[in-house]
Amino acid sequence: MTIQFKLTMIVIAVIVVVNSVGSYVAVQYAGTVWLDEVQTRVRLDLNSARAAYRNHKDTIVAFLQAASLDPHLVSGVVENDLPGVESLVRRAHQSGGGDVVKIDVINLLDPKGRVIYRARNPKSKGDSLADNPIVAQVLQEQRLARGTIVLSQESLLLEGKDLAQRAHLRLIDTPNARPTDDEFRTEGMLACVAIPILDSRKRMVAILYGGDLLNQRFEIVDAIKEEVFPQQIYQGRDIGTVTIFQGDLRIATNVTMADGQRAVGTRLSAPVAERVLDRGETWAAPAFVVNDWYITAYEPITDPNGRIIGVLYVGLLQAPFARQHLLLVGGFLALVLVATLASLLLIFLVTKLVLRPIGHIIAMQRKVAAGDLTARVGIAASGEMGELCREIDHMAAALQERERQLEQATRRQIGRSEQLASVGRLAAGVAHEINNPLTGVLTFACMLREKENMDPQDKQDLELIVRETTRAAGIVRGLLDFARERPSAKAPMDVNDVIGRTMRLLGNQSAFHKIVVVEDLADGLPAIDGDANQIQQVLLNLSLNACEAMPDGGTLLLSTSCEDESVVVRVTDTGCGIKQEHLDQIFEPFFSTKPVGKGTGLGLSVSYGIVRQHGGTLEVESAAGKGSTFTVTLPALAGTSPGGPGKAPPAP
Ligand SMILES: Nc1ncnc2c1ncn2[C@@H]1O[C@H](COP(=O)(O)OP(=O)(O)OP(=O)(O)O)[C@@H](O)[C@H]1O
Ligand SMILES: [Mg+2]
Repeated sequence: MTIQFKLTMIVIAVIVVVNSVGSYVAVQYAGTVWLDEVQTRVRLDLNSARAAYRNHKDTIVAFLQAASLDPHLVSGVVENDLPGVESLVRRAHQSGGGDVVKIDVINLLDPKGRVIYRARNPKSKGDSLADNPIVAQVLQEQRLARGTIVLSQESLLLEGKDLAQRAHLRLIDTPNARPTDDEFRTEGMLACVAIPILDSRKRMVAILYGGDLLNQRFEIVDAIKEEVFPQQIYQGRDIGTVTIFQGDLRIATNVTMADGQRAVGTRLSAPVAERVLDRGETWAAPAFVVNDWYITAYEPITDPNGRIIGVLYVGLLQAPFARQHLLLVGGFLALVLVATLASLLLIFLVTKLVLRPIGHIIAMQRKVAAGDLTARVGIAASGEMGELCREIDHMAAALQERERQLEQATRRQIGRSEQLASVGRLAAGVAHEINNPLTGVLTFACMLREKENMDPQDKQDLELIVRETTRAAGIVRGLLDFARERPSAKAPMDVNDVIGRTMRLLGNQSAFHKIVVVEDLADGLPAIDGDANQIQQVLLNLSLNACEAMPDGGTLLLSTSCEDESVVVRVTDTGCGIKQEHLDQIFEPFFSTKPVGKGTGLGLSVSYGIVRQHGGTLEVESAAGKGSTFTVTLPALAGTSPGGPGKAPPAP
């Protein structure tokens, strides 16, 4: 799985989750705000509807008040001119109201509340309306009373058969209405006014009573609707609706049923009825009205005694708002989707761009692993990625340089070994040939020197022969050592011991008197598998060289340590040092800077041969004029515990 894939997946997950949660919250919030907004509007519309309804009642009041103030009517009543009064009331009834307000009922009552004349149904009279709450209020207070009341079928029949018929409604079942066994409702709801007619002495001589039967009086609800929701149509239906309920029964409404008929005869849904009719509270929430959802507001209508007798309703069809809401939400979600897709594409491209160098780094590392040290990332990117690429390129360059140096050193070493080997073979041949005659010369010279009565001059010459022959024998021995003709006897040994012995040997020599010897020997040095004599010879050679490099005195430091499972001996002097151009030559046989007769130039090459034979290395570091350090590294004997070989005696 690539980093790009993982990164893209993580970012996709984050974006999708954040956008989903964000969209859900935004949609929910927008929905609530939207609904609240519409709901508040509907609640305000209910206020407008209430005002319009009151306005309607005011028109009835104004009409009857005008009629009651007619001086002919007052004088007719006072003078008991019944035909005259009847004709006045009849005319008022016939002219009655206007387009919206219809005066369905107009009666003249005597001061006790009995009907003197019914304009709509002149035949029925003489009955008492004293039980009518509006009339009762006038009888009691002798001033105008108004309100909405419910009339029984009998009362309606008295007022007129047609009115009883208008109020007679067959119930239509709707899903949410409270269950009922009733098939019909026969009561009617009347918006009515009763006005006392006073004589000149302000005595009540009669009562003018009139009203508008609200059942199936669609002009009222339509007028309110036009006033509150002018011209709002959705798919051929009115968005705004107004209803007057008598109890829970729709008696005047512009809510329509599926067949387009006004929903007169249908009833209030149970939860609204419970809230508004039973508890007298206002309802402002979405409600199921007849057969659809509306955003609604309902409030109770009360009679003069404060009894809840009906409900005034306004509502807006929810569908058009829901559709707008849906469009808005859809638009929002589409926008979120487009933004998500765009950001995903962007992230894909950005990660591809950012991670491009990683592909190059991997390819470069593969090449390096396969041995091509010239491979480079070769990208000049900016930022941290660019820095990483540059660092990796630096690292590869350093690796290539190290490899080159290592190769050079190896080549030099191989060359040196081959050179030593060929010189060694030559030296061994020559040494063998010279060794035997030289031994003969030395033996006979020594024997001759022992002769008595010898001429002192001869004796002196013999001494010279013995000395020079001994020196020649020494050189031959050196050659044999160099050619490794002498077998080595390896055994576990402690290097610290050998250093001790070497120093004791050298300490007596006069050349060492001006030199301070410092020994820094590690405790618990592991043993090595070596020929003690040969190792001693190495240390002797190195120490003598150091001594010869410090003719005017100095410090010789001998230190041992254990590093990486090897025993390391360092011989450091503060002498003349080695010139840079000689560093490559000092291990060559017969290379010497010393005057003829002083040095053979075999010391270091013999030592080199011995160390190599022990599986170790001999290295030099030197700065002309400052001093030199020769480092002998010999493999430690596996399994020897720190503290030396055990058998070897501790260094004195
Ligand atoms: N510690 C040292 N300080 C300075 N130069 C040194 C040191 N050790 C070796 N050399 C240089 O390396 C040369 C070679 O040393 P090497 O021991 O092989 O031969 P030599 O000392 O000249 O003769 P001999 O065979 O008597 O040892 C020396 O002549 C000297 O120039
Ligand atoms: Mg030497």
